[in-house]
Amino acid sequence: MITQLTDVSYSYNSSFKRLDSLESNGDWDLDDIVESKIHKIHSYPAKFPAFLATRALDYARREGITLKRVADIFCGCGTVAYEARREEVDFWGCDINPVATLIASVKSTFCDPEEFVRYRDLILANFELVDEETNFSLRRTNRLLYWFQIEQFRALARLRNSINISLPENSPFKDAFLCAFSAILKSTSQWRQRSTKPQLDPTKKPKDVLNEFLKQCSFMTSAWRASSQSNTAKTEIVNGNIIDVQAPAELMDMIITSPPYVTSYEYADLHQLSSLWLGYAEDYRDLRVGSIGSGVNAVDLRKELKNLNEVAYQIVFSLYGKNPLAAGAAARYYLDMQKVAKRCFSFLRPGGLAFFVIGDTTQNGVKLDNAAHLTESLMKSGFRKVLATKRTISNKLHTPYRENNGQFSQKKLSKMVYSEEYILIAHR
Ligand SMILES: C[S@@+](CC[C@H](N)C(=O)[O-])C[C@H]1O[C@@H](n2cnc3c(N)ncnc32)[C@H](O)[C@@H]1O
Repeated sequence: MITQLTDVSYSYNSSFKRLDSLESNGDWDLDDIVESKIHKIHSYPAKFPAFLATRALDYARREGITLKRVADIFCGCGTVAYEARREEVDFWGCDINPVATLIASVKSTFCDPEEFVRYRDLILANFELVDEETNFSLRRTNRLLYWFQIEQFRALARLRNSINISLPENSPFKDAFLCAFSAILKSTSQWRQRSTKPQLDPTKKPKDVLNEFLKQCSFMTSAWRASSQSNTAKTEIVNGNIIDVQAPAELMDMIITSPPYVTSYEYADLHQLSSLWLGYAEDYRDLRVGSIGSGVNAVDLRKELKNLNEVAYQIVFSLYGKNPLAAGAAARYYLDMQKVAKRCFSFLRPGGLAFFVIGDTTQNGVKLDNAAHLTESLMKSGFRKVLATKRTISNKLHTPYRENNGQFSQKKLSKMVYSEEYILIAHR
């Protein structure tokens, strides 16, 4: 039962303060519903808890909105995509990260578990026959050999070749096995696990490739056995930049999304193992281009300052005094999010809702009020009103601190991870 939401669509400076003083009323916090296994077939940074998607859908229905079509403009690994399909609602999703759209597509396509097991056995049989040829450039191979021991590299090359020859090009099962392949790359490499930054762990003993693949396939089989069967809902997942991607063919009833934060995750860097193995890029850094919140996409402040809205201007101005480079990257983020707010307006039908989960962060001691900025951007894009509340981030409560190397930790001396975020609901 949703109790209270606060209208924060007043003047922008006062909405700034009103957001700060909001209390979390528990409505959007933890849920005792166990998430479908399908949400765990591949790890993804900043994954949306599935119950938020279902609760947002319930909220819209209680508001009297008929839900035929829902979008997630930053769909990540497809949490909203799966939940919308489960509720037989059509879905349109977009993400710039090809690893995200691979996982999201796999999660939104029902794979018959028995057929999946038959293909797995064919892949295992072909594994004995294929060679370990990769046809990768020297640069790509060298980058991968930085992360993988030679034994694992060879086994992965054979596994990839075996998947390629065992499945037809356009089969949804092929994507499912590429997703399984992608899911085992961190455990079979020297990648430091549970870290939010790419880091080598020289002491780590990488796992055996075939064992990991078999375990992953068993997990996916049980996830499909437990998941909802195919239904009539239509799902479209697009790999593209939300700022200029072609709009969905029909207007949406609702958007449910969680935007990236300013310089908090470099998604392209975090998925470099998958991008290089699956051939999404020769150099994983190319995939940073256009990624909102990437620390490397700065702007020329002299030219762009005038385009920042009021909240962004204040933040960028305060940050400039402490760290001009960070101010340039933050400005880029805020300008991008202003364009995103406009696109949300244009994707929705009149009366539709845009639901956001967004947190504030801190950089060089300056508070980055991302939620207030988004509120202002939405109002300036034409939305009638924005309602807000806070939620407590429950899954990080056990490890609320983060060390400088990006690992979550219990130690009080390390950096506090934000433990609250906002729910913003914009009415078109
Ligand atoms: C907070 S995550 C979303 C996670 C998602 N809700 C889930 O459950 O997996 C933000 C996503 O925005 C994507 N992103 C960043 N810039 C983008 C852009 N310009 N266009 C589309 N997606 C973008 C990132 O790749 C990332 O997957």
